[in-house]
Amino acid sequence: MKQMLAGVAAAALIAGSAQASDVEVLHWWTSGGEAAALNVLKDDLAGQGIGWVDMPVAGGGGEAAMTTLRARVTAGDAPTAVQMLGFDIKDWAAEGVLGNLNEVAAAEGWDAVVPAALQNFSKSDGNWIAAPVNVHSTNWVWISKPALDATGMGAPTTWEELIAVLDAMKANGITPLAHGGQAWQDATIFDAVVLSLGDDFYKAALIDLDPEALGGDKMVEAFNRMATLRGYVDDNFSGRDWNLASAMVINGEAGMQMMGDWAKGEFLRADKVPGQDFVCIRFPGTQGAVTFNSDQFVMFDVASDEAKAAQLAMASSVMNPVFQSAFNVVKGSVPARTDVPNTDFDDCGKKGMADLAEAGGSGRLFGSMAHGHSVPASIKNAIYDVVTAHFNGEYDAATAAAELVNAVDAAK
Ligand code: BGC
Repeated sequence: MKQMLAGVAAAALIAGSAQASDVEVLHWWTSGGEAAALNVLKDDLAGQGIGWVDMPVAGGGGEAAMTTLRARVTAGDAPTAVQMLGFDIKDWAAEGVLGNLNEVAAAEGWDAVVPAALQNFSKSDGNWIAAPVNVHSTNWVWISKPALDATGMGAPTTWEELIAVLDAMKANGITPLAHGGQAWQDATIFDAVVLSLGDDFYKAALIDLDPEALGGDKMVEAFNRMATLRGYVDDNFSGRDWNLASAMVINGEAGMQMMGDWAKGEFLRADKVPGQDFVCIRFPGTQGAVTFNSDQFVMFDVASDEAKAAQLAMASSVMNPVFQSAFNVVKGSVPARTDVPNTDFDDCGKKGMADLAEAGGSGRLFGSMAHGHSVPASIKNAIYDVVTAHFNGEYDAATAAAELVNAVDAAK
């Protein structure tokens, strides 16, 4: 609380003691778990007398939100704060339309507590342009504990074990894999599948965009794995929202979901307990490595002192360690600062924090392609197209690998 008040005082000081206006926030947190997490932020700001004007645009990965944002900025009407991922932040920074959070960042010592992998996106030309609220990661699998127990097997640790569990779930009469057929969801599984074929392969293909990795034998193998997984999805998967796929696992209709840790927010909201009702594991073959993404609040350059004061107060709130714990406990993510204790986190959250620290220390932390942290949106979208066309049976694995090389090349 003390720190929170200090933040508001700092913000008012910086903005010339102006009264903070309401904040209009553009975001894509529209599922039950996401809305619950958002309420933690709304309440926090309300406690400081800052009102909330909601601007939700549904769609994981934020593609639709970014389209809306572009229209708003083009119309000269940027929102006060915008939820944004990695390379989108860099793209906007390059346009020179963002605000500057340096004074509040300096007053609160952000440099010392935000991991370098996040600062890479929060700062541009040495200036703080965004406040990171969390770290998510995409190489997770969320398994129904009763469905797993019914197979008589343990949580899978290898690709072969994964397939054995999926087969057993199928034999038990449930949908083995809950999935929503939307490009970003297909791409989220693709992150994990590529990583499961090796750290070097992930880096070469999805970060360095090496044509030999994008079009080689290992990529053909990755697409074969995607096709195998497609075989465990039910017939109605097309267009299904990710949180409805989570609900299938929660209800026992499906065995597992391969999704970022925002899925945990849905399980928690349904009063499900990790270890008891569901199990969280890293995608088999990716243990010890992490494909991360971080939601950051980006502040556009606004004219009025009141709006500036609101931005600084919001940034300060978002970076508050007490808030970072409270918010991320609900959201399913982990804190964006290294000094937040894991005390209030459940076992999956504690694992997420430990995995992140371990991967960071061992050089096994990679930006998620699917969630905007490995390549710019133009290239990400080109990869999405190929992954989805293949998932829907338009290409065989060899054609998909060849198309990936072409699509990335054309988007560069
Ligand atoms: C965001 C998460 C969000 C998820 C699904 C991801 O891109 O980083 O915060 O929960 O999409 O909407």
